[in-house]
Amino acid sequence: MLQDRVVVVTGASRGIGAATAKLLAAHGAAVVVNYHGSEAAAHQVVAAIEAAGGRAVALRADVRDRAQVEAMVKRAAGELGPVDTLVLNASIQFPIVPFVDYEWADFEAKLVGELGAAFHCVKAVVPGMIERGSGCIIAVSSGLSRHPGPGFCAHSTAKSGLDAFAKSLALELGRHGIRVNVVAPGLTITDATAFMPEEHKQAMARMTPLGRNALPEDVAGVVLAMAVDATAFVTGAYVPVSGGTLMP
Ligand SMILES: NC(=O)c1ccc[n+]([C@@H]2O[C@H](COP(=O)([O-])OP(=O)(O)OC[C@H]3O[C@@H](n4cnc5c(N)ncnc54)[C@H](OP(=O)(O)O)[C@@H]3O)[C@@H](O)[C@H]2O)c1
Repeated sequence: MLQDRVVVVTGASRGIGAATAKLLAAHGAAVVVNYHGSEAAAHQVVAAIEAAGGRAVALRADVRDRAQVEAMVKRAAGELGPVDTLVLNASIQFPIVPFVDYEWADFEAKLVGELGAAFHCVKAVVPGMIERGSGCIIAVSSGLSRHPGPGFCAHSTAKSGLDAFAKSLALELGRHGIRVNVVAPGLTITDATAFMPEEHKQAMARMTPLGRNALPEDVAGVVLAMAVDATAFVTGAYVPVSGGTLMP
């Protein structure tokens, strides 16, 4: 379904990004496995893709840094071809504390990191997409962008900014054949949620209509759905991956 497509998945060394890179590659895409600190894990993702007969390359870039993003996209084009699909997935860290205890520096770092990463990555790939008259951008947001949780003030604010950014791009770039959609996971079992007590995860599963927590592959499946031509007339959408917990 993705033959001849070149995809950049940011933050693909672990978690949702790794599952997404593997799934898109299994459907024919050549994939850039972007990573920041986890070099060995990124190379394992590439090895798994290649062992299954796919094409991938691991490229290091801190997606908050414009120069590093531009260099990554340039290398991607040289090694795999022009980038036609971008998955904004990298997980920008933030402290989970009540608002009254939040420091501006932490709040600012999350907002600037999340939105800066999205801005730099889109800026780097969009000129080529406009030239070719087609492109696909998928932002991995969070159910918390619409339904906040205690301690997640910075994350909710940053992700709702990401949602608005994606809608603005969908509006402006549609005439160039570029689609922009948001995939919004609920609680997903990855390193990012490893700190949560098991009882909390089980309680969340019991409150979920489909009766379990999400796995990275559940989110990857929806990214795939938004990337393929079968959804060619969908743009500006917000798709929850929550087992029915979020019904916006
Ligand atoms: N897990 C959940 O419950 C959940 C729920 C809703 C939304 N989400 C969203 O889903 C996305 C993926 O989350 P996850 O749970 O899969 O996270 P994760 O397992 O903690 O993995 C985080 C990934 O992001 C990469 N990353 C972090 N900072 C980066 C940077 N500055 N530049 C490039 N890559 C960077 C990491 O790369 P290195 O290890 O190489 O540094 C790693 O590959 C995030 O946007 C997150 O907000 C997650």
